[in-house]
Amino acid sequence: MDSEQLREYGHRMVDFIADYYKTIETFPVRSQVQPGYLHNLLPDSAPDHPETLEQVLDDVKVKILPGVTHWQSPSFFAYYPSNSSVAGFLGEMLSTGLNVIGFSWVASPAATELEIIVLDWLAKLLNLPEQFLSKGKGGGVIQGSASEAILVVMIAARDKVLRTAGKNALGKLVVYSSDQTHSALQKACQIAGIHPENCRVLKADTSTNYALRPELLKEAVSRDLEAGLIPFFLCGNVGTTSSTAVDPLAELGKIAKSNEMWFHVDAAYAGNACICPEYRQYIDGVETADSFNMNAYKGLLTNFDCSLLWVKDQYAVTEAFSANPEYLKNKASEANLVVDYKDWQIALSRRFRFFALSLRSTSIKGYVYPTLENQWDIK
Ligand SMILES: Cc1ncc(COP(=O)(O)O)c(C=O)c1O
Repeated sequence: MDSEQLREYGHRMVDFIADYYKTIETFPVRSQVQPGYLHNLLPDSAPDHPETLEQVLDDVKVKILPGVTHWQSPSFFAYYPSNSSVAGFLGEMLSTGLNVIGFSWVASPAATELEIIVLDWLAKLLNLPEQFLSKGKGGGVIQGSASEAILVVMIAARDKVLRTAGKNALGKLVVYSSDQTHSALQKACQIAGIHPENCRVLKADTSTNYALRPELLKEAVSRDLEAGLIPFFLCGNVGTTSSTAVDPLAELGKIAKSNEMWFHVDAAYAGNACICPEYRQYIDGVETADSFNMNAYKGLLTNFDCSLLWVKDQYAVTEAFSANPEYLKNKASEANLVVDYKDWQIALSRRFRFFALSLRSTSIKGYVYPTLENQWDIK
């Protein structure tokens, strides 16, 4: 990397992006192009000669921006809000600039330690129970997406139960959720090898708030026990994508506990709001959960990707995910002095992506959840 070149081009790139934000409202929010449009605009093979940054940026303006759907436009109301902020953007710059890969503590100690600290800060802001903090057996980790977070905890739960029930019991494991639950759960079941017939999608209570009714869960669990199956994983919701349904966590948690099931709470969509005291009630009962996730890239003005996961028992996760080949061994890990986040996720390598989050968190005390009414006032 040539520092002076970076300085010159970096300033021009920031100008380009700042100008994009200045004019973002002039674009049609949804891209108007037809499938395959870019094939007609770009050559068949990579260019033989380099082009100037100006030429590249001109191409971006003329060929790429028409094919962009402008998620950061104030007129974007599709799917879910995924708004960034200047702090989030600067954090991403820092992360990209340092470009370290902190898969284990020794690979970049600050990466691991900052992540632990920031996840503890956020756990406290959410008023999560102490068991989710890093000082005991619990702790938080940044996953790329909620789908990864759910898969990670499902595999941890699966392996935990199979250690006692035996590997052959995989076909007996049963997962429970309401029909409002995100398809990320179904995907996790597919990857974790849960038999499709053992995924109980229980009808939500459409007469009130689309929440999962505890009686329905109790009945389903009893039926499965009678049939010789093993209930092992319950996914509760705080803010489903389609209906913002909030399940009664405390009651569900009680049922999960009495049946030795792992209770996960998916708050990917709405969990961020619970930092505000007036919304905290929606995660009441989270103390009964084994794990909890929310997407910082949704309501916390942090760039995609950034999904936060807290677990009460980090060892359940690391037992399922750790692999220690010779070339990764080091004294700090062997002495059990450190967290190695490679053992809390699917991939080995990981970004120093939480800079974005930590920068944002420094000003989070006065956080106002963006709503239709106030979003124009939030800087
Ligand atoms: C409640 C809920 N769960 C899970 C997901 C999946 O999130 P991700 O795209 O981060 O995997 C979403 C995303 O829309 C969601 O709203």
